[in-house]
Amino acid sequence: MLGKPGSALSQLAWAHETLLWASKGRGSRHTFNYDLINSRDPNTQISSVWHIPSVPKREKLHGYHPTQKPLRLVRRAIVASTREGDLVFDPFSGSGTSGVASKELGRFFVGAEKEGEYAELAGRRIGAAVRGGVLRELLGRG
Ligand SMILES: C[S@@+](CC[C@H](N)C(=O)[O-])C[C@H]1O[C@@H](n2cnc3c(N)ncnc32)[C@H](O)[C@@H]1O
Repeated sequence: MLGKPGSALSQLAWAHETLLWASKGRGSRHTFNYDLINSRDPNTQISSVWHIPSVPKREKLHGYHPTQKPLRLVRRAIVASTREGDLVFDPFSGSGTSGVASKELGRFFVGAEKEGEYAELAGRRIGAAVRGGVLRELLGRG
C-alpha cells in the first residue's frame, strides 16, 4: 500500500499520480501531439511513466494547497492532448495548476473549485501567468 507523504513508516512513500486519458464517443478522433512531447531524438519514444519532480517552491508563492500538482506534469498533459485555442475544463481545479498551464500554452480554461480559499488562490496564480508564454518557448517563436 502506498502512503501519502508524512504517513507512518509502515508504508511505501507516495510517489506517483495516475492520469486517465479518455475521448468522447465511439470512433471519435482525439488529439495526441506526440511530436511535441517526445524527445527530439528519433530513436526514443516517450513512455507512459513520466519522471517529474514534486512541486518546486516557486510554484507555491501565491499560497498553499495540499495536493497542488507540478506545472511540468500538467503542461505536458495539456500539450499532449489539446491544441492551441482549445478549451480545457478542470472540475476540481484546486490551486489552478491546469488554469495556469492552459493560459501559458494559449488554451482557454474553465475551472470549478468548491473551496473559496482555493478558488482565490487559483485566481491569483492564473492572473500572474503569462498568456502564451510557454507556447512561444515550445514552438520556438521567441
Ligand atoms: C486533488 S485537488 C486538485 C489539485 C489541483 N490539480 C492543483 O494542482 O492544485 C481536488 C480539488 O477538488 C476540490 N473539490 C472536491 N470536490 C469538489 C466538487 N464537488 N466541486 C468542486 N470542487 C471540488 C477540492 O476542494 C480540491 O481543491
